Amino acid sequence: MNGSAVEHIPVLAEMLAEQINLLPDAVMVDATIGQGGHSLLFGKTLGPEGMILGFDVDKKSIRRAQSRLKGLACKVILIHSNFSQISEQVHKQGIERVDFILVDLGVCSAQLADAEMGLSFLADMPLDMRFDKRLKTTAADIVNKTDEKSLADLIYKFGQDRASRRIARFIVEYRQRRTVTTTGQLAMIVCKALGQPGRKRKMRIHPATRTFQALRIAVNNELENLEKLLASAPKLLDKNGHIAVISFHSLEDRLVKGNFKQNEKEDVYRIITKKPIVPSRAEIARNRRARSAKLRTAQKQ
Ligand SMILES: C[S@@+](CC[C@H](N)C(=O)[O-])C[C@H]1O[C@@H](n2cnc3c(N)ncnc32)[C@H](O)[C@@H]1O
Repeated sequence: MNGSAVEHIPVLAEMLAEQINLLPDAVMVDATIGQGGHSLLFGKTLGPEGMILGFDVDKKSIRRAQSRLKGLACKVILIHSNFSQISEQVHKQGIERVDFILVDLGVCSAQLADAEMGLSFLADMPLDMRFDKRLKTTAADIVNKTDEKSLADLIYKFGQDRASRRIARFIVEYRQRRTVTTTGQLAMIVCKALGQPGRKRKMRIHPATRTFQALRIAVNNELENLEKLLASAPKLLDKNGHIAVISFHSLEDRLVKGNFKQNEKEDVYRIITKKPIVPSRAEIARNRRARSAKLRTAQKQ
C-alpha cells in the first residue's frame, strides 16, 4: 500500500482559521505541507497576488499536495527541503519576509499507511521511518546496531517510556537470534516486554507507541530540526506576522512554549495562545489523530 488514497484530515483547522486572518496578498509558509489540507483552507482566502511556499521532506507528500492545491488562485511553490533550512530556501525564492508560518508536526495519515515509510506498528512493514529518503540511517539500523544502554537511553529520552531498559533488553535478546527488519517484529518484541494491549494492565495506548515515537524522532532528527526552525522564524516574519505550531507530544510542545516565551520576553513575539489550544471532543471523535494535538500561536512585534 502506498497510502495515496488515504485522506488526511487537517488538525485544529477551524481554530486556526479563527486566529489567523490572511490578506489576499499574504505570503504564507507551510513548513509541513503534507497532503496540503491546511494550505488548501488558507489558500482559498488568498488572491492571485498571494503566495504559499510549502515545504516537505517527503517527495510523495509534495506530489500529493501539488495535485490538491493546483486549483488555487494564489501562487504555490513547493520545496522538497527540510524546514530547518526555512530561511535559506525562502530567500532563494527572492522573498525576504513572510506573513505566516504554519508548522503541523507529526505524521500524515497517508504516510502511516505507506509501507515504504515503515512507520506503523499496526501493520507489518519494513522498519524504515525516514520521512526523507535522502537520510542514510533507518530505524532498523538503529534497532540492530545500537548497544543496549544507548538504545534504552534513546527510548527513554525521545519516547519517555519508563520501561525503556526492559524494552532495550528484549530487543537485544531478540537480535542475537534474528535481525529486526519489520515494524511488526519490533511491535511484537515491545509487546513481549510490556504485555499485550488489553491484557494484564489497562493500556490507554498501544504498548509500542512510545518506542516507535522515540525511533521516529531519532531517525528524522525531529527536535533539532524544530529548534532550527523556531530560531529562524523571528527574522523571517514580517511585523505583525504570525507563527502557528501544532505539536503532538510534550517534547515538541515544550520547545515551542519555551521559544515563544523567550521571544515574548525579548519583545519579539506577543503570545496569542496563553494556554495551548486543544481539539474539541467532536473533533477527536471525527479524527482520532487529533487527540494529542496542541496549537500555539504568536505574533511578531
Ligand atoms: C502532519 S503532516 C502535515 C499535514 C498537513 N498540514 C495537511 O493538512 O495535509 C506533517 C508533514 O511534515 C513533513 N515533515 C516532517 N518533518 C519535516 C521537516 N523537518 N521538514 C519538512 N517537512 C517535514 C512530513 O513528511 C509530513 O508530510
